[in-house]
Amino acid sequence: MFRAFSDFLSARFPVEKMNFNAMVAKKEVPVHKMSWAYYLGGLSLFFLIVQVVTGLMLLFYYEPTVSDAHASVEFITKHVSGGALIRNMHSWSASAMIFCVMAHMLTAFAMKAFERPRELIWVTGVIMLLLTFTFGFTGYLLPWNQIAVNATKVGLQSIEEIGTFLPQSLSTLPRLIRETIQGEASVGQATLSRFYALHVVVLPLLMFAVLALHLFSIQLHGMSKGVDSEVRKTEKFFPDFMIKDLTLWGVVFLVLFIVALCLPFESFFSYPLSEPYNPLGSTPEGIKPEWYFYFLYYPLEMLPFWVVFLVTNAAVLVLLLAPWIFRGTSRRTLRVLAVVITAYLVLMTVFGEQIYYIVKGGQ
Ligand code: HEM
Repeated sequence: MFRAFSDFLSARFPVEKMNFNAMVAKKEVPVHKMSWAYYLGGLSLFFLIVQVVTGLMLLFYYEPTVSDAHASVEFITKHVSGGALIRNMHSWSASAMIFCVMAHMLTAFAMKAFERPRELIWVTGVIMLLLTFTFGFTGYLLPWNQIAVNATKVGLQSIEEIGTFLPQSLSTLPRLIRETIQGEASVGQATLSRFYALHVVVLPLLMFAVLALHLFSIQLHGMSKGVDSEVRKTEKFFPDFMIKDLTLWGVVFLVLFIVALCLPFESFFSYPLSEPYNPLGSTPEGIKPEWYFYFLYYPLEMLPFWVVFLVTNAAVLVLLLAPWIFRGTSRRTLRVLAVVITAYLVLMTVFGEQIYYIVKGGQ
């Protein structure tokens, strides 16, 4: 077994390729009809860098206490020079990052970029996808407004509900997990401290460790072929592709800057996010998570909890094991699957609310 494991590792990390010539000078990018997809990983990286830089700037003023969190966010927005711009950039870029990471995953899937010996590039990618969503979930609570606290309560409550579907011996485990994340009987200071520690320390450290492995493996194995047909043309990664990559980053930065300057992120919410959390206040009508959780939220509203729970867990497992499950599947089939998944995500994200009312109206 040890032998099999060491063979597995040596095929994924070939020592003979660990040199400047193989990893940098000779790196080539195939040119074909799906070459545009090779920019999506770089764009995800760009938005991650924006998140780190703007997040660090916000840290100079943000106070992670239930008494001051909301006021400190308001102070950043109204009184710190450039504060509203940085906050908006952090929010817009978070959404853009989730969009890019999802698009990057779907195109990598359609191009079968996880083929042996590239499985670890894929698996580290799935871990980063989960980390990205956890960044979104933990960051949402930090402004400590009425919507955020109530939405977090609902989210944490659903973890506990899992217990009712588990065998007796395991049924208390979800409650334990919820209490550990929550830190006290109800969402309060301990919860805020934990979400803050996760959002600004634990998740970034994990992300950088996994990202290092992701990028190192890509440099070792190069870009995937991407298409079934013979690749006739390639271009050098350094400097040709990288110059195009960086040009795109420049354009995207300009767009992000202008959008953040002109459009407050919160202007798209149908309810005000500005009210501080009031423990005695009622749960606001129609609270919803951020748009990137709609693909889970609307099914949860329409279907029994256990169905969504089972399907979600199965989907994460299939994603993690995709390089082995789809080893013999053709790129054509993978492309069809990627289109079906994209259609589902777009449908739930854009029309989830309408579908919900149609289903509820019919009952
Ligand atoms: C924060 C999240 C992520 C960052 C920063 C990131 C970054 C990158 C970068 C810079 C590349 C090289 C350029 C490219 O091929 O696009 C890449 C390639 C790749 N990534 Fe990611 N990635 C992320 C998430 C993911 C996810 C969620 C998956 C899939 C589950 C994934 C799977 C891959 C694969 C398979 C490749 C090789 C592509 C090829 O050779 O055709 N990545 N990633």
